[in-house]
Amino acid sequence: MKGIILAGGRGMRLYPLTKAVSKQLLPIYDKPMIYYPLSILLLGGIREILIISTPEDLPLYRKLLGDGSRIGVRLAYAEQDAPRGLADAFILGADFIGNDSVCLILGDNVFYGQDMTRMLRQAMANTQGATIFGYPVKDPRAFGVVEFDENQQVLSIEEKPEHPKSGYAVPGLYFYDNRVVDIARQVTPSARGELEITAINNAYLAMRELKVILLGRGMTWLDTGTPGGMLKAAMFVQTVQDRQGFYVSCIEEIAWRRGFITTQQLRAIGEDLSMTDYGRYLISLTEEGK
Ligand code: G1P
Repeated sequence: MKGIILAGGRGMRLYPLTKAVSKQLLPIYDKPMIYYPLSILLLGGIREILIISTPEDLPLYRKLLGDGSRIGVRLAYAEQDAPRGLADAFILGADFIGNDSVCLILGDNVFYGQDMTRMLRQAMANTQGATIFGYPVKDPRAFGVVEFDENQQVLSIEEKPEHPKSGYAVPGLYFYDNRVVDIARQVTPSARGELEITAINNAYLAMRELKVILLGRGMTWLDTGTPGGMLKAAMFVQTVQDRQGFYVSCIEEIAWRRGFITTQQLRAIGEDLSMTDYGRYLISLTEEGK
């Protein structure tokens, strides 16, 4: 399975923060925002990852993450020259995807929870069709929203409905079989002028091949598209890290625990950063053993 991180867009809801810097490079507490979605792909064991961003911002992502070899993965990059919508990721990424299935994660989505790995495995075990998630939120109007019938069967996914038919928003983490590339090519722009991911999900639903996994309240999904959202996410990460002593979404740690890099490699990365808490954390992991 291939992975795609979509880190495009103009981030206008965060102006002036994003006037000169790409949104997904901004910090969430002690890491660039893109580390959080990247860590989810790594947790899922996905090692071939395409990062999509604007032509201006792409060089900065390359500078941050390089070819991925430092953490034992292969990173590729693709330009999106205009914010054409999430479904465009599969058109831009068609060659990269090849004949594989693909997981798309949005560059500003933060997930955290004990069940994360199990949930990813469950989604990846579903090799036919599409798997998306439903997460309870107080106000789902800013998201894709799942509509159910009385037997909990999915009836539709609505994009940013004025009157949501349930409290379940669709987080920015999607799993598709290879047909997604062709389906994306047939999507037409919505009223807001974008190729909506919701159109893809509804196409799979029409084929009866859309699976929606409902996430419980013990899982955390945060979206960081506004200054308030960013601050809350930062405080969440700080609270968990300070309490437990474990880092949230530390890509080097996950790469090591997944066996993508050796203990020596992890230690070398830590030593390069030994003047920081982050570097000292990596070194401490190598001392404790897995
Ligand atoms: C997008 C999707 C929406 C989804 C959300 C998750 O919204 O269109 O269905 O619920 O991501 O973050 P956008 O970020 O384009 O407003």
